[in-house]
Amino acid sequence: MLNLIKDDDKHEFLYTNEDFEKVRGILNKLTGINLADSKDAMVYSRLVRRVRALKLSSIAEYLKYVAANAHEEQNFINALTTNLTSFFREEHHFKVLKDYLNDTPGVKRIWCAASSTGEEPYSIAISVVEALGRFDTNIEIIASDIDSNVLETAKQGVYHESRIQSLNLSMKKQFFHRGTGSNKGFVRVVPELRRMVKFRQINLLDSKWPIDLPVNVIFCRNVMIYFNREMQEALLTRMVRLLPKDGLYVAGHSENFSYFSHIVSAVGKTTYKPA
Ligand SMILES: C[S@@+](CC[C@H](N)C(=O)[O-])C[C@H]1O[C@@H](n2cnc3c(N)ncnc32)[C@H](O)[C@@H]1O
Repeated sequence: MLNLIKDDDKHEFLYTNEDFEKVRGILNKLTGINLADSKDAMVYSRLVRRVRALKLSSIAEYLKYVAANAHEEQNFINALTTNLTSFFREEHHFKVLKDYLNDTPGVKRIWCAASSTGEEPYSIAISVVEALGRFDTNIEIIASDIDSNVLETAKQGVYHESRIQSLNLSMKKQFFHRGTGSNKGFVRVVPELRRMVKFRQINLLDSKWPIDLPVNVIFCRNVMIYFNREMQEALLTRMVRLLPKDGLYVAGHSENFSYFSHIVSAVGKTTYKPA
């Protein structure tokens, strides 16, 4: 007998607890993400678009399709990642970055390791410009994510005006162009700033990351929370190996690495240096 998810009457396509468990397993294997039990409705609402687009008849059929068509894995991942972000999210980190840049000569590279739709790496680029007083610096900013859709959005650097509402007027004027005509209501990051950021698709689970050394600063915020503790420890170890002794690691607000004092030491609120 099929084990139906409780509110299945509401579902246009058949969706069972077994499907949910399978989705969790596949997603975890591909990305390291652990979905909580409470995410069953979210999974349905996100996968249903693919089921419709492919004219399939159930979530189970879609999962068979994913298994048989390797190219669908990317759509599966894109559908299930959570990409919430904003310009200057956790603003205090950008002040820490500016201070770090002012106090540390010779910074070569900053890696933003789960950059989503680009607001975070562009906030990093703005902070670099503000700290060094110019766009053409020798600092390379690498922004990466596993999700190919968000990387496309990030490269375009086009956002709804409301996304920059909280920025001060001079920042808006210096770093964004307002759209006109059919682009009214949107802003675009100025080309000088776009050129400072190189976008790359990187799955943090991959055994090799295509990033040159040295990496002086790593922003890896609000992605470790999706991984289990063992994986967090393994990733943190690998990332910290990229940093010099005086490097800076910036974590998200709910990522507390006090368990990992053998890897990092806190230098401020959710900011760390190699231990
Ligand atoms: C909640 S967003 C955080 C965005 C940004 N760092 C911030 O704090 O505003 C999490 C991002 O991590 C990405 N992600 C999830 N698993 C990943 C993995 N295994 N490798 C790389 N990126 C991953 C998702 O695609 C998503 O864009």
